[in-house]
Amino acid sequence: MKEVNIALLGFGTVGTGVYELLIKNSDLIKEKIGIKPIIKKILVKDLKKKREIEVDKNLLTTNVEEILKDPEISIVCELMGGIEPAKEYVLKALKEGKEVVTANKAILAQHGDEIWEEARKRKRFLGFEASVGGGIPIIKTLKEALIGNNIKSIIGIINGTTNYILTKMLENNLSFKDALKAAQAKGYAEADPTLDIKGIDSAHKISILASLAFGFYIPVSKVYIEGIDQIDLMDLKFAKDFGYVVKLLAFALKRKGKIEVRVHPTLIPENHVLTSVRLNYNALYITGDFVGDILLYGLGAGKEPTASAVVSDIIDAIEYSYFGKKPFIKYPLTKNNNFFNIRP
Ligand code: NAP
Ligand code: HSE
Repeated sequence: MKEVNIALLGFGTVGTGVYELLIKNSDLIKEKIGIKPIIKKILVKDLKKKREIEVDKNLLTTNVEEILKDPEISIVCELMGGIEPAKEYVLKALKEGKEVVTANKAILAQHGDEIWEEARKRKRFLGFEASVGGGIPIIKTLKEALIGNNIKSIIGIINGTTNYILTKMLENNLSFKDALKAAQAKGYAEADPTLDIKGIDSAHKISILASLAFGFYIPVSKVYIEGIDQIDLMDLKFAKDFGYVVKLLAFALKRKGKIEVRVHPTLIPENHVLTSVRLNYNALYITGDFVGDILLYGLGAGKEPTASAVVSDIIDAIEYSYFGKKPFIKYPLTKNNNFFNIRP
């Protein structure tokens, strides 16, 4: 029986979801692709921490070298979050010849040029489907299905925590603080939730989408950002009285040859389809010159949908290293200053 050993860096919300998915579905995956993914090691920060699920203690380690130097581990999934040491471990894993999967939008939006370049140079697979939109296959849609299009715009709700907060405040009369607490309890928020509520997580994500859509690296530093931290229940109620709903939207637009990338709360007419995107759901409108308009919708945060996206990358990594399937496009590499940001 053919098996492939993988390692998880991180065993929090997403890592636990990936573990559970592979326990439940790895035989099914083997029936589909002929290879069974097996988790050989899991990096954590604290070995004594009480875990949501019981795992064989021998799986856990706090020593990343045990993973990076193990020739039997061919795929490393970075599910820790934050910039360091996540970035260092991703680069080291690529240098050690591992295929890498990451759910970490922050490292790609801040250091994507360096990371994509390392993957390209080392001829390694670098999957990041889970970095945007949770379970929604937005990365593969842009890299594969829409590759022939000149992408004109992407407009989306791409942060589950803030969408959950806005929904709960209005529908259940929750205060901002209580709604955030509920989102954190469900595992939607970043370890530092200010990234969510200040719009930075959405900015990380739209930076990645804009880079893929327009073909050159657009770091998060070029994104105009406003969050929902200044919004209270009264604002939402006033908006409703006037027939609007407040959503945190992310925009990547091409206008007259220039690129505009921004994130900010937006008033949407009550009958617009985006107003029906509630709780931790995300949605993305994409317009391409030949495909026209498409709408992607699904769970944008949380253990299960994110695990679904990570595992899709693990399968791609297997196809890449075992069956020689090459990634479809070059990573966005070129530095290009031909864009600007405007205030909404
Ligand atoms: P989390 O619940 O906070 O889990 C982080 C895990 O990483 C923990 O197991 C922690 O170990 C481990 N870790 C952190 N720093 C470490 C270090 N220096 N050395 C070793 N282990 C370390 O985070 P999460 O929600 O799963 O998110 C992980 C990543 O996925 C982030 O990049 C996030 O943006 C992304 N993501 C999250 C979601 C979501 O819905 N949560 C969705 C899409 C993408 P301990 O357990 O020992 O503390
Ligand atoms: N904190 C993120 C969110 C996790 O709420 O959307 C999913 O990327």
